[in-house]
Amino acid sequence: MKKLIVGNWKMNGSMEDARVLIANTINSLDAQKEILKKCEVVVCPPFLHIPAVRHAIYGFPELRFGAQNCSAHEDGAHTGEISASMLRDSSCTYVIVGHSERRTLCKETDEEIGEKVKTALRYDLSPIVCVGETQEEREAGQQQEVVGRQLAAALPKLETYHNLAIAYEPVWAIGSGNAATPQDIQEMHAFIREQLKNYSKAHEDIRILYGGSVKPDNAAVTLSIPNVNGALIGGASLKADSFLAIAKAS
Ligand code: 13P
Repeated sequence: MKKLIVGNWKMNGSMEDARVLIANTINSLDAQKEILKKCEVVVCPPFLHIPAVRHAIYGFPELRFGAQNCSAHEDGAHTGEISASMLRDSSCTYVIVGHSERRTLCKETDEEIGEKVKTALRYDLSPIVCVGETQEEREAGQQQEVVGRQLAAALPKLETYHNLAIAYEPVWAIGSGNAATPQDIQEMHAFIREQLKNYSKAHEDIRILYGGSVKPDNAAVTLSIPNVNGALIGGASLKADSFLAIAKAS
């Protein structure tokens, strides 16, 4: 199974910044093509920058791209939303669903996230479903209960999950510079792997990514933990060098 290395650019940068970042990412990956033997590399720009990224990637299809969110609804009267069908039409292959920033800032519920996963799959997008506990929940020892609940709400029972991935991102590790410890990551990823048996016969094919302060200097250790099948990277994906150093570490 190839590792899945995903850059979540979040809400950062101008159109010009996006053009420069994607050009640097392509050039750097082109110069280190051996990375692609072990990894699938994906970038998720803000919606408005997707056409520029798509244009740049046209001659370099080994690099994939996706979106950071999609609507749970079909096309229609949903002002301000972007549908899964529009993402498909824009050649996205992946979509991040249920990121903790959206759960917190946009009050997305487990149920809504479940609907988004179903809609994304209907349009042949591969959802990257984010789960993870807050600091308070971990201190109360509730991390498995929380993640188990989030998975139960997000995952429909299906024969195939069309390349769906789970991203375990403990909320307290995101953007903090303090990644979870290898032991915490190993325990949670083993728990998630076990839970996946309840949802799909193809559970062994589902990649489980870790996210939260992944940097070049902790990438090799993180990506060698059992059941860590990739990484979802925020800050370090905004520089081509650090993003691809993480991919290379796998
Ligand atoms: P950082 O890598 O900046 O901690 O962000 C992680 C994240 O939220 C990726 O989705």
